[in-house]
Amino acid sequence: MSASLEPRTHPSPSLSLPPPLLELREVRYAYPDGTPALRGVSLRLAAGEKAALVGLNGAGKSTLLLHLNGLLRSTSGAVLVEGAPVSNATLRHVRARVGMVFQDPDDQLFSPTVFDDVAFGPLYMGMAETEVQARVSRALEQVGMSGFERRMPHHLSPGQRKRVAIATVLAMDPVLLALDEPSSGLDPRGRRGLIALLRALPQAMLVATHDLAMVAEAFPRVIVLNEGLVVYDGPGAPLLADTALMERYGLR
Ligand SMILES: Nc1ncnc2c1ncn2[C@@H]1O[C@H](COP(=O)(O)OP(=O)(O)OP(=O)(O)O)[C@@H](O)[C@H]1O
Ligand SMILES: [Mg+2]
Repeated sequence: MSASLEPRTHPSPSLSLPPPLLELREVRYAYPDGTPALRGVSLRLAAGEKAALVGLNGAGKSTLLLHLNGLLRSTSGAVLVEGAPVSNATLRHVRARVGMVFQDPDDQLFSPTVFDDVAFGPLYMGMAETEVQARVSRALEQVGMSGFERRMPHHLSPGQRKRVAIATVLAMDPVLLALDEPSSGLDPRGRRGLIALLRALPQAMLVATHDLAMVAEAFPRVIVLNEGLVVYDGPGAPLLADTALMERYGLR
């Protein structure tokens, strides 16, 4: 009885620390045809943390990102956003908190004008018209696409479509950005602008990419996926400098 009155010198971390912004616990996923894509992925991301997700074609990067806002549901394991498991009950909240940019911008853009596509999320969230307009202007400016509001997304070049796809997510001001190959198809100036933007944004981000020069510039943390497993998770600089390791994971 007296023991229960003693002061707790080691409070449980789960009681004293907020949950990580994102947590994956032993996430496994196989596509309906049986292809195993994720084979037990665990990771945590803190608010504001920027991590690059790298690995060979087919490593599982896109599959992993699609789990972050519930577009794919793991066969086993759990995905938690701000401590809440992604489920039907939390889906609406999760989609407002996690901004997802698909590998193919054609999967993202479906409206008759650029404005409508970028305004879609803020309108869906019930924002007032002036707020929606301010958000669309700001997001298009951030990706260097101001002035394209009235253009048809499907008549833009692939690189321009990619930028608009990124703007649709920035307009939502999510806490976590899940970007799949954001620099692919961008011209050198667009790519530089993107790198500066990713560095400046305050949000946490998990970014799948093959652009290792961008990784070196914008991402302090690198996660390497290989055949559906995390084989490296740590600071980017020592990994990128380790030619043997880079060779082993097919990154060189
Ligand atoms: N719709 C699908 N049906 C069946 N298998 C799929 C499907 N999409 C992806 N896969 C398989 O799942 C695995 C992971 O693919 P994923 O697209 O996640 O890789 P990735 O790391 O994003 O590759 P990349 O660098 O080419 O974008 C691969 O073996 C791939 O062939
Ligand atoms: Mg991919």
